[in-house]
Amino acid sequence: MPLCSIEEIKALEILDSRGNPTLRVCIKACDRIACSSVPSGASTGKHEAFELRDGEKRLRGRGVKKAVENINEIITQALVGEEITNLRRIDETLKSIDGTPNKSKLGANAILGVSMAVARLLSELYGIPLYAALGGIMRRRLPTPLLNVINGGKHAGNSMSFQEFLLIPHGFSKFSEAIWASVEVYYTLKDIIKQKYGAIFTSVGDEGGFAPPVTDPNEALKLLHDAVTSSGYRVEDDFSFGIDAASSNFYNEKKGKYIVNNKELSIDELFELYHTFIESSSVRVIEDPFYEEDFGSFALITQEAKKLGAIIVGDDLLTTNINRLKKAIEERSVSAVLIKLNQIGTVSETVDFSSLAIYNGLKRIVSHRSGETEDTFIADLAVALGSEGIKTGAPARSERTSKYNRLLEIESELGIEATYAGRDLFRSGSSTP
Ligand code: PGA
Ligand code: ZN
Repeated sequence: MPLCSIEEIKALEILDSRGNPTLRVCIKACDRIACSSVPSGASTGKHEAFELRDGEKRLRGRGVKKAVENINEIITQALVGEEITNLRRIDETLKSIDGTPNKSKLGANAILGVSMAVARLLSELYGIPLYAALGGIMRRRLPTPLLNVINGGKHAGNSMSFQEFLLIPHGFSKFSEAIWASVEVYYTLKDIIKQKYGAIFTSVGDEGGFAPPVTDPNEALKLLHDAVTSSGYRVEDDFSFGIDAASSNFYNEKKGKYIVNNKELSIDELFELYHTFIESSSVRVIEDPFYEEDFGSFALITQEAKKLGAIIVGDDLLTTNINRLKKAIEERSVSAVLIKLNQIGTVSETVDFSSLAIYNGLKRIVSHRSGETEDTFIADLAVALGSEGIKTGAPARSERTSKYNRLLEIESELGIEATYAGRDLFRSGSSTP
């Protein structure tokens, strides 16, 4: 690659999938331009990097004009003329001009938009796909998708406490086979919901999953089970299930209790409930089972789940933050990590978080946010990191399907070299990406 310096950086306020403003950033060097867009969560962890919003009357305070200005003025001034060969160095510069521990001065959304656009531009300049630019030219494993087909919590208008019920097509030999089988199950699930609750409940939540009027998690799991078997597939052999409890959202800190299915549950009662899900309902993945400060209860359920062949994932617990991951490793709180770029705010810190997870034998699931854009960056990131899983919603709504479509494209480009993570997602021991 010739030596290239950044010539121009331009940010723009655009819409995310919920109609909220977010950022698109384009960067120019050596006559090439690359752009990236920033996602935004709804059930955010307390320890996430700071998302800068205007807080003014316009758009209910959600505008990102200050973040746009920070990019077009402060970041432009610092980076134009800088050589673009080293993403890590650019990320370091961004962090140092911000100068705060949680990126609250420039906004993690502003910093991330630039970091992602630089990564894309590097792949353009190298003339190789983004996954190869980020992860190396030997990358070839496609992640197991965890498709969020029943939405609850903060992502839907129903009264289900748990946020996500995930369909996991672990028993296929190719990513594309896994996706098309999941699509069949998604169609059947829609038919079942229509028949049971009425057509009105086949409209979808923020991540493309259905939001039936169900409060009992066992009923939601039964729907998944029936959808798989009625589609002609086998539970356990072909599909398993996952739950993102996102439990900080239904935890009452004062009482030390969780509100599930309109009942107050103690930690022990909730633990028991998870235990039955794993033992009797083919649940192999549970994310954020306890609230985001309870490393101890996470550790207990992680050890229990391990015996039963299931994994416990930290999302709000860890917020893609390496210091929180170090604590979780010390306390053996998780067997898997969720990876979200905008929780930490730069591509290189995200990669470092993933590396620490691999060294400690933890599974990795790259994730979208509930507020997404058409940017497919995370599909390439999952292949680059060799992550065992990817969570990017139901097989519906373009901001979700764009990621699946990009993975189908990568699989097709790799041809017979492509492999599929499948059961690696919960197989014990580390797996080769
Ligand atoms: P969020 O939800 O993007 O609204 O935070 C996703 C998740 O909790 O995994
Ligand atoms: Zn989550």
